[in-house]
Amino acid sequence: METKDVYILGIESSCDDTSAAVLLNGVLLSNVTASQDVHMAYGGVVPELASRAHQENIVPVVDQAIKRAGITKEQLTAVAFTRGPGLMGSLLVGVSFAKGFARSLGIPLIDVNHLQGHVMAHFIKESDDDKTAPPLPFICLLVSGGNSQIVKVNAYNDMQVLGQTIDDAAGEAIDKCSKVMGLGYPGGPIIDKLARQGNPHAFEFAEPQIPDLNYSFSGLKTSFLYSLRKWIEDDAGFIEHNKNDLAASLEFTIVDILMKKLRKAVKMTGVNHVAVAGGVSANNGLRNAFREHAEKYGWNIYIPKFSYTTDNAAMIGITGYYKYLDGDFCSIDKPAFSKVTFK
Ligand code: KG4
Repeated sequence: METKDVYILGIESSCDDTSAAVLLNGVLLSNVTASQDVHMAYGGVVPELASRAHQENIVPVVDQAIKRAGITKEQLTAVAFTRGPGLMGSLLVGVSFAKGFARSLGIPLIDVNHLQGHVMAHFIKESDDDKTAPPLPFICLLVSGGNSQIVKVNAYNDMQVLGQTIDDAAGEAIDKCSKVMGLGYPGGPIIDKLARQGNPHAFEFAEPQIPDLNYSFSGLKTSFLYSLRKWIEDDAGFIEHNKNDLAASLEFTIVDILMKKLRKAVKMTGVNHVAVAGGVSANNGLRNAFREHAEKYGWNIYIPKFSYTTDNAAMIGITGYYKYLDGDFCSIDKPAFSKVTFK
């Protein structure tokens, strides 16, 4: 019997990236993302501006994704969309569009959890013979602007959160520290660039003492801010004179906190296939730490391509594809949700 080709359209709009992707039988055909520069002037995402930009971007982004895939919308099999967590106003744009689009084409809808999508980025295939996905089970460090979690991935639909931040996310801490240094937004890529030229041991910041596999980054943020204030009292040009060292020391501290708990998770579970996902996984210091751990502890490591680390629809599309194979569809009345949950 001939099997039918499955074309999935993935849609992501949980924060400040409007993204659409098309996959054929789990292989990526296109992935188009419109980022929003409008937030740069404010040092962080302004929710109302984000939802307006999504409204402007969603139609051209979806149109481009379908065109670049070389298909027509009538060929689509199902529409997968990010239902949450994220900013409610942003989510509503993608969710409403996905529902209307699927209904107009008479095809099924598949809801995707954004956090599971980040983890599933490891299963994005760029060609039929792409074999870069980690074997199951694996441990995934999920670090983004909104989340920091250690997840045990038993199957695409069976993910166990072993630990998570009790306050701020790692990316949020980096962005806030960058803001107090007067650097731009988002701070992650700026800190990363400066850190490459700095001394990671030049300054020390308080490390949290949190039990189990949980994280905390709000204390570090405060420690960074108070230390900076003190140093600026003695030298008004302190930040300018020490920018690289400050960035390198901050990055070192955050990576150290992340890796300590990850080592603990690997030891506890006995699983030594270790992956990283989410926007902060673009960080070179973290990527280097992964490579060092692979060598020192014999970990098998999985680091996604840069384009699949920050928010993108390819990860939503691939999650949608697996849910499609399981017949796991969603009804049109399922609402968006903002609260952080893995379900
Ligand atoms: O996954 P993502 O795009 O959005 C969320 O779902 O939160 O992650 C965005 C976060 C931001 O905090 C940004 O500063 C951080 O990822 N980020 C980085 C780097 N690139 C992006 N952090 C450190 N180094 C980077 N190179």
